[in-house]
Amino acid sequence: MKQRRLEGRTAIITGGAGGIGAATGQLFAEEGARVALVDLEGSPLGEVAAEIRAQVPGAQVLEIRTDVGQEQAARAIVEEALGCFQAIDVLVNLAGIRSYEPLAEAKAETWDRILKANLLSYAFLAREALPALRRSGHGSIVNVSSTHALNPRAGMGQYDVTKAGIVSMTRTLAFEEARHKVRVNTVCPGLTLTPFHVKRLGRTREDLLSEKSKYNLQERWADPREVAYPILWLASDEASFITASTIMVDGGQHV
Ligand SMILES: NC(=O)c1ccc[n+]([C@@H]2O[C@H](COP(=O)([O-])OP(=O)(O)OC[C@H]3O[C@@H](n4cnc5c(N)ncnc54)[C@H](O)[C@@H]3O)[C@@H](O)[C@H]2O)c1
Repeated sequence: MKQRRLEGRTAIITGGAGGIGAATGQLFAEEGARVALVDLEGSPLGEVAAEIRAQVPGAQVLEIRTDVGQEQAARAIVEEALGCFQAIDVLVNLAGIRSYEPLAEAKAETWDRILKANLLSYAFLAREALPALRRSGHGSIVNVSSTHALNPRAGMGQYDVTKAGIVSMTRTLAFEEARHKVRVNTVCPGLTLTPFHVKRLGRTREDLLSEKSKYNLQERWADPREVAYPILWLASDEASFITASTIMVDGGQHV
């Protein structure tokens, strides 16, 4: 039988109840990983975990409900994951929120909220997980940013700034951690049809999928699993010579 890509590995995935997070959690479980899915109280985390257990026989899924924007949450997540699985080999920082204030009207409290959720949570969780990732011997951090880290637009400046910060933080961390054999990379998704967008646009999934998109070369939305695959690949030993990279998963939107 073919060796599964993450057999025996343990991964923490933040934003695990969201569209891309759920797809990543399921794919990781299919590829043999034990997964700690982290998301906010009140998010559909339990449903996502139950679905993974139903779809993947023998899947080991730990649910952690917390606000990753709070510094103290990072240590608690790492302790709970280690208590349950004894190791951490992969960290996928993926939790994120949006804001829609033009920079000329950007409020301090919005800046505070989005910087904590989208950027500081990545930094704190990486810091707390690094001792375990270094012990792993093949530690990998995958930070999920956005195509808009590199090609900004009007109206979502705060979000785009946090996503650009993720790319920068990834490169520095890759530099610092190379000697500890921890690889650090960024995935920049483009238009991905997650429950968030279906709800935001007030249309059906089928309706949105049937329309041509003007935003990328492939003229369509990605399925969350199409973003989960590059995350999986970067997390696995197949990407063993890849660190400090930024992988665009956006149907060519960046050109
Ligand atoms: N869907 C897209 O088109 C798209 C495009 C580019 C980048 N992204 C990025 O991909 C990631 C996932 O996107 P998605 O569309 O699946 O979004 P989503 O909103 O469905 O998922 C994000 C998840 O993060 C969780 N979360 C937010 N703040 C949190 C916090 N403080 N603590 C814990 N959990 C928190 C949310 O509850 C949610 O489950 C995000 O970082 C997003 O910015 C998405």
